[in-house]
Amino acid sequence: PNLQMEDDASSNLNRVNCRAKGGATGFKVAILGAAGGIGQPLGLLMKMNPLVSVLHLYDVVNTPGVTADISHMDTGAVVRGFLGQQQLEDALIGMDLVIIPAGVPRKPGMTRDDLFNINAGIVKTLCEAIAKCCPKAIVNLISNPVNSTVPIAAEVFKRAGTYDPKRLLGVTMLDVVRANTFVAEVLGLDPRDVDVPVVGGHAGVTILPLLSQVKPPCAFTPKEIDYLTDRIQNGGTEVVEAKAGAGSATLSMAYAAVKFADACLRGLRGDSGIIECAFVDSQVTELPFFASKVRLGRCGVEEVLPLGPLNEYEREGLEKAKKELAASIEKGISFVRK
Ligand code: NAI
Repeated sequence: PNLQMEDDASSNLNRVNCRAKGGATGFKVAILGAAGGIGQPLGLLMKMNPLVSVLHLYDVVNTPGVTADISHMDTGAVVRGFLGQQQLEDALIGMDLVIIPAGVPRKPGMTRDDLFNINAGIVKTLCEAIAKCCPKAIVNLISNPVNSTVPIAAEVFKRAGTYDPKRLLGVTMLDVVRANTFVAEVLGLDPRDVDVPVVGGHAGVTILPLLSQVKPPCAFTPKEIDYLTDRIQNGGTEVVEAKAGAGSATLSMAYAAVKFADACLRGLRGDSGIIECAFVDSQVTELPFFASKVRLGRCGVEEVLPLGPLNEYEREGLEKAKKELAASIEKGISFVRK
């Protein structure tokens, strides 16, 4: 019996060593709002990401079930669940990346700004805990209205004395994913071969696809430009209406969030040449925040890239976008200051 016990002990030790090794090579990621429409498929996809060694799932409801379920997947990441405000800090301690899809989604007829009253408070509370428990983590903010929630997060971090503009990124990747898909459809190409920069923000006219900079280089008719711009700007509403009251984009959003989080993690690991669009602290325009291409690296945003040459159609779109963006940014900032 003694021998048996020794065997058990040494195999347990092996197991612990393996986990520790995985931990040393992978990153620790928390999802806040992990039981929601986006949170669940996002958790599933992050559990499949080989760069993730520890995955924390936090929500105010239903995380025990979601965690038990996802934890049975035979991939490397160790999954732990956290339920309710009293477990928020434990969910955050030691995290390298925090992804936030917490908050209410749109119903038909609503704008993203209609979500402000509920989601602003949720984002503020979550960011206060991040400032306290993992101030060096990269934050990927998904909760809408992104044009206001990113300024809210920045303001909370400034107050806490932990603000690092390189580490706070509003996720606009779904706009890029949609733009790539819709443009590929018009051009008759594989969407994986298409790259459309989308700048500005993440709501209606603030979503500004730069169709003059599409790769591979191509030309569109004025009709195609109107159709594509409109469809990209209203892609979210297309889904909200099709779901008819059951929420907004969750599956394509989880895909986009993972694509973006993976880029952030590859940057953290030290890979070079990682460029994605995101809504960040910016000097590209006179506005304090703006979405454009950014280069990701070991510290988060290493460089905010300029917009490049715009045609007249895009310059007009930019003016409209900036007007609405300025108001949304101001609304976020004054929510925390008041
Ligand atoms: P959902 O309602 O299905 O899930 C939200 C989850 O957040 C729920 O599980 C809820 O319990 C949780 N939650 C609420 N308060 C919380 C708190 N204080 N702490 C932690 N978790 C909390 O909504 P869904 O569809 O997952 O959307 C989430 C957010 O993402 C919405 O604000 C939506 O507008 C936004 N969104 C953003 C997109 C983008 O491109 N950035 C695209 C699609 C949605």
